[in-house]
Amino acid sequence: MGRIVVAGSINMDVVAIADRHPAIGETVTGREVLYFPGGKGANQAVAAAKLGAATMLIGCTGADAFGRDTRTFLAVQGVDLAHLREVAGVGTGTAIITVANADNTIVVVPGANALVSMADVAAPALRRGDVAVSQFEIPLPAITAFFTQARASGAITILNPAPAMPIDHKLMALVDVLILNESELGLLAGVELHEADPDARFVDAASTLQTDHRPNICVTLGRRGVIALVDGEIHLEAARLVKAIDTTGAGDCFVGAVAARLADGHSLQSAIGYANVAASLCVQRMGAGPSMPTAEEVSAAAG
Ligand code: RIB
Repeated sequence: MGRIVVAGSINMDVVAIADRHPAIGETVTGREVLYFPGGKGANQAVAAAKLGAATMLIGCTGADAFGRDTRTFLAVQGVDLAHLREVAGVGTGTAIITVANADNTIVVVPGANALVSMADVAAPALRRGDVAVSQFEIPLPAITAFFTQARASGAITILNPAPAMPIDHKLMALVDVLILNESELGLLAGVELHEADPDARFVDAASTLQTDHRPNICVTLGRRGVIALVDGEIHLEAARLVKAIDTTGAGDCFVGAVAARLADGHSLQSAIGYANVAASLCVQRMGAGPSMPTAEEVSAAAG
């Protein structure tokens, strides 16, 4: 079995629960404030580790209380933190999240995540069969250096381009599997997408991201399921009917689960089906990091 190496962000999520989201310029009264370990990199690492994969996280926290709390949480989840760097004089990444009716809005202040360097990602040696995972909450030069090293060592690379920003050709050429949601796809493809659009519209938008290099692409569509382009074929995975209470981290759960299954030698199609079940469990719990399911829970839900 290969290992998962995630280069990514570590945040403390400060979550306000409200009955509805405020409009611009409006104040609404919330019900509760909760603190959860989060950050897309950390969430994806926790998801993979809880599903049984040997998982390492490369990242940075500040030397503060949020940093101590997130590191303690990650260690308890079984994530290898040998390449996590604590940086003095800068705050741990913090996400300000509003959750209302299961949907969220997020503002991320990167803090120490902005200091993840090319030297940080070069430190752990990758091997054939490993899976290298990253997102856009750490600096792009570090992600490119990480995937360059991963490609040279025969590891599989998974990019989750979130929060969305344009992907340059050099980085795209290093990506084996691109996993993104509807709004990220819309931004990268330069088209306006809506939940009710026909499948073909998502397929067409995803196809525009495949230029000379043709990465496999998974588009996660929440209640709608997943549309994927795998080795040139269209693959549809229906969403599972569950009552969502908080969708924060569900995309990260999907990414971590795909990585864990690929590292275990499964095909991408089968990994997508498995990750779809894992994400359906994640949305039924509050918070990002703590809502990732175990392998036993996914097996039980898959039936
Ligand atoms: O994808 C969810 C995550 O996005 C949250 O945990 C938050 O920290 C932001 O990074």
